[in-house]
Amino acid sequence: MVKDKERVYLSLAHMSGNEQKYINDAFEKNWIAPLGPNVDGFEKELATSVGVNAAVAVSSGTAAIHLALKLLDVGPGDKVFCSTLTFVASANPILYQGAEPVFIDSEPETWNMSPHALERALKDAVQEGVLPKAVIVVHLYGQNAKMDEILYLCNKYNIPVIEDAAESLGSTYKGKASGTMGTFGIYSFNGNKIITTSGGGMLVSNDVDAINKARFLATQAKDPAPYYQHSRIGYNYRMSNVLAGIGRAQLEVLEERVRARREIFNFYYQHLSYLPGITFMKELEDTRSNRWLTTLLIEENDAGLSNRSLIELLSEENIEARHVWKPLHMQPIFKGVSYYSHGENENISEELFKKGICLPSGSGMAEVQQQRVIDCILSLFKLKV
Ligand SMILES: Cc1ncc(COP(=O)(O)O)c(C=O)c1O
Repeated sequence: MVKDKERVYLSLAHMSGNEQKYINDAFEKNWIAPLGPNVDGFEKELATSVGVNAAVAVSSGTAAIHLALKLLDVGPGDKVFCSTLTFVASANPILYQGAEPVFIDSEPETWNMSPHALERALKDAVQEGVLPKAVIVVHLYGQNAKMDEILYLCNKYNIPVIEDAAESLGSTYKGKASGTMGTFGIYSFNGNKIITTSGGGMLVSNDVDAINKARFLATQAKDPAPYYQHSRIGYNYRMSNVLAGIGRAQLEVLEERVRARREIFNFYYQHLSYLPGITFMKELEDTRSNRWLTTLLIEENDAGLSNRSLIELLSEENIEARHVWKPLHMQPIFKGVSYYSHGENENISEELFKKGICLPSGSGMAEVQQQRVIDCILSLFKLKV
């Protein structure tokens, strides 16, 4: 029985019950290391699940992005284009490499990278004679970006694409798994993601050699010698065999988790979509979102309350809701960085930030908890409307 003011969290880890089996196996065999059968198994099983040739399990999604940039030889003086509406971890690895980010606005349908803005940025880059070394495209909240348009543009200029699919494991775009359409894809298994290893990530690609090179870099770049010899800088980025065991059990229930999150979205939609000033994030045609977080926009003039006040009022009821990501071009750390808007006077990501809210969406959330969120929002609207 859920107690009255028990906290409703945004997105909690949701164990399947099978995790312990893999963890016990690691303990029994004393594979308590950043390599071992669970790591190998998790890599193979994830690669099969999304349909790529190779995968390397690492300590975080951020590490996976960093390795992708290393493999593409991104360094000082290089530019990397990146979606602006995202978590800071999408772009921080650009700075780790001493390269320069250029932020690309969202478009209104998917909230993800605007092909219009990307095209303008590429045209300018051609004029300046310096093309970006890579484009990082984020699939936000499980929604796929418009990959056909983005890949068309990037292929035209021969620019590799890194898909930041940290939030979109289990989503599909025209039948293809999110994260498998670019040169590299990355997933995150952070505690709040659709499946988790408590902390971890995966780099995937159809280029087996590149993934082997990533594995080498992620394991301190040890040369094949009978002693510890290093010819280049490496990283300690491998995933532990214990955590990979959690990942294997979680991967077994990925489809169930996607279905649960989609049901959560539908339940919210059914009860709240008719409210004045509320618009839910849509789903692009011919795609399937994992609906990692249910997100919606609140038009203050119509709704009678802003996203910020709704988040605060829900918090008073011990319900955790959050703002949509603050665009990176608005972040103090990226002050002065180049940015391309969707239209001349259309800054879609800024609008989404101004109006957006993420509702509690954990796949383990009980229906009574979700009903409590809905009842709370309905009562707030009754007071305001
Ligand atoms: C869009 C996005 N990119 C990258 C990351 C980084 O993943 P991690 O926390 O595993 O480093 C996250 C989540 O944390 C994310 O939401």
